[in-house]
Amino acid sequence: MRDAAPQTIYLKDYTPFGYLIDSVSLTFKLHPTETRVLSRIAFRPNPDATDQTFFLHGEELKLISAKIDGAEVSPVVTDEGLTIENAPSAPFIWESEVEISPSTNTALEGLYMSNGMYCTQCEAEGFRKITYYPDRPDVMATFDVRIEGSENVLLSNGNPGASGEGFAEWSDPWKKPAYLFALVAGDLNNHPGSFTTRSGKDVELNIWVRPGDEDKCAFGMQALKDSMKWDEDVYGREYDLDIFNIVAVDDFNMGAMENKGLNIFNSSCVLASQATSTDADFERIEAIIAHEYFHNWTGNRITCRDWFQLCLKEGLTVFRDAQFTADMRSEPVKRIDDVIALRARQFPEDQGPLSHPVRPEEFQEINNFYTATVYEKGAEVIGMLKTLVGHDAYYKALDLYFERHDGDAATIEDWIKVFEDSTGRDLAQFKRWYSQSGTPKVSVREEWDAEGGTFTLHFNQSTAPTPGQDVKDPRVIPIALGLLNPNGDETHSTQIFEMTEAEQALTFTGLSARPVPSILRGFSAPVMLEQDIDNTRRAFLLAHDTDAFNRWEAGRELARDALLKMILEDAAPDAAYLEGLKRVVTDTSLDAAYRALMLNQPSETELAGVIAEMGQTPDPVKIHAAAKALSKAKAESLADALPALYTENQPSGAYAPDAKGSGQRALANSAMSLMGKLGDVEKARAQYASADNMTQQIAALATLVREGEGDAEVQAFYDQWQEDRLVINKWFGLQISLAKPEEAAAVTERLTQHPDFDMKNPNRFRGTLGALAGNHAGFHHASGAGYKLLADWLIKLDALNPQTTARMCTSFQTWKRYDDGRQAMIKAQLERILATPNLSRDTHEMISRILG
Ligand code: PHE
Ligand code: ZN
Repeated sequence: MRDAAPQTIYLKDYTPFGYLIDSVSLTFKLHPTETRVLSRIAFRPNPDATDQTFFLHGEELKLISAKIDGAEVSPVVTDEGLTIENAPSAPFIWESEVEISPSTNTALEGLYMSNGMYCTQCEAEGFRKITYYPDRPDVMATFDVRIEGSENVLLSNGNPGASGEGFAEWSDPWKKPAYLFALVAGDLNNHPGSFTTRSGKDVELNIWVRPGDEDKCAFGMQALKDSMKWDEDVYGREYDLDIFNIVAVDDFNMGAMENKGLNIFNSSCVLASQATSTDADFERIEAIIAHEYFHNWTGNRITCRDWFQLCLKEGLTVFRDAQFTADMRSEPVKRIDDVIALRARQFPEDQGPLSHPVRPEEFQEINNFYTATVYEKGAEVIGMLKTLVGHDAYYKALDLYFERHDGDAATIEDWIKVFEDSTGRDLAQFKRWYSQSGTPKVSVREEWDAEGGTFTLHFNQSTAPTPGQDVKDPRVIPIALGLLNPNGDETHSTQIFEMTEAEQALTFTGLSARPVPSILRGFSAPVMLEQDIDNTRRAFLLAHDTDAFNRWEAGRELARDALLKMILEDAAPDAAYLEGLKRVVTDTSLDAAYRALMLNQPSETELAGVIAEMGQTPDPVKIHAAAKALSKAKAESLADALPALYTENQPSGAYAPDAKGSGQRALANSAMSLMGKLGDVEKARAQYASADNMTQQIAALATLVREGEGDAEVQAFYDQWQEDRLVINKWFGLQISLAKPEEAAAVTERLTQHPDFDMKNPNRFRGTLGALAGNHAGFHHASGAGYKLLADWLIKLDALNPQTTARMCTSFQTWKRYDDGRQAMIKAQLERILATPNLSRDTHEMISRILG
């Protein structure tokens, strides 16, 4: 429950904790409503601290007893923790016993229960709901844990120790902060595996699941082994315990958690099978397993000094998992997917009321800062650093980082210093990427001197003010670019132009013809590029650019431009775009996944953002109509090619969720969907009936539903999958995502009445209400029913699960884009949420910031 005045915490106020910990030993006596937690902690004064106040965090704990060096003490206890006045100035032993109630913990933070299984989530500040402790990442200790419970599997961090009837002991030899603590107890089954590290150490691997899910573990196990191998090969990082456990839980606020030696996963991010998971699920699962595993070095061995440094572990680990996916699959496809996601999630955040630096300087609730900016922009910043220093220098700096900071709770300053020391570069200006919020706009003007054969690119960078930051200084922007000849040949291969000033020019001399520049290749910086470029030029780049990203980008811009003209000028679909698209999509020398990406068009949400960025007011109705009309026009233009695209891209042989098979299915499914636009749903109906994998089954279902031909299949799908909660999440989501704008709120409301709707399960809640927010025209329907329904449910959920509620408030973050009528309706809902008695600190902070 929220304090009267929410407190703001500032980076500048950091001070170290007054004590160091030599060891922690915990005993858990598990019980659904009366779990007892005994702790025995060896503290000693921290010579580097000036403030020796002995304050331990603790929330929602029933204190049974507290002792110092064996003698009972009476701490001063508040809602946030306890203080011992006059704590010893010599080393001492703290012992406490508390009682907690995991089965009534619906916030899913601390120790809670999911389907009868005990599990924990401690990042960021959940450990304080387990026992009294200095719950901050710079306090690190080794942990010994004893679990007493009747479950057949009792797990914690580190290596297993003694175990027997009703108990198990674990001991983690690596110092860690409390946020990496984990405990799991349940009647679980395992999918075992093993890995031998490059120095010859055998590691036992397990994926623990509910009985019945054993057949969904093989893919995750392989992804884990691939990740372990990759981190050895690419970063020289070996695993450091005898055992690595992964546990799947159904009720989880986030994707997964990197607890030392005991990763806990949202079951949707680890369980995979051909019949129940799509190709996209497989790829996501592979990436998340890698991400959590990679945290063992970037996050666990080297952790964060305080939560302001979150991007130190998250940006770097996202960057590493993206490198892994690019290596395992296709580099350009991964890059394109990531840029689409960045523009969809990070750009709106950075350009709206929630804008914050990659390293924020203040927060009220840290849970609200697990954002696209910290994660995805944080990864982009590392990518830029790698581009600037080069491949070899990057890995040399990383070696130094691991060597210098192993065992530390580090800062962004430490990170930057490593690069400065190992490369000799001054990175003071580069560091602005960590402190300045907002998306820079880079505009380029071309100047051609035919006589002298000189071509100049004039660059300008600027960043609009963001909340709390009116003035922006120029940043270091690595701009990858190349030049093409008018005949399509590349005359200048990719080079990096380092922009450091607000205005800067780059000149090429000795040219015989005016070149065509290809700028920001590979999306070398997270900026908005503005070029004076027409569709002929875009079509040229689409046909000739050697940079796969920029080829895609040229096609994307053609589609975007066509849509904007349709929306803003009532134009017809652009014929040149349709021609260019046809050439690319039917070019069988190109990879299927890439062609499928080309066939996609910007989402309605993205278009609304682009229109707002142009200073106009997006009309969701018009955007929706244009998006539909362009799909239809693509279908008509490609009509002759669609049947062949469909049949020629049916992967041969057994199903495999690899890059090739996924790409082919994506292309064939796009063709099937476009055929639907022409009134031909026979392929979809046949595919639905015969599919042996979820990718094809659900794509067929989507086509049928989109064309209003899927009622029977929607029912059949439910009948077939009602026992599979992950597939049923898709069933909820699909009906809402594809609902007509005027029906979206009603469909959502009807589905919230369905017996399988469970607001306590974050996946189901997001699959339902999140899908409504993602249906742009439906959510923003002029009736306001979408806004009201989402607000109703956020208010209800807040009382149970503040973290997921607050995160879902971001659906309202773009409200100022829209017309006065919609703004007024959204504002009324935001104010209604804010006025809710006992609103959580999480949701209170989010709504206040969104309102501005
Ligand atoms: N640290 C987790 C990750 O990025 C995310 C997470 C944060 C999970 C907070 C749970 C709670 O891998
Ligand atoms: Zn992470």
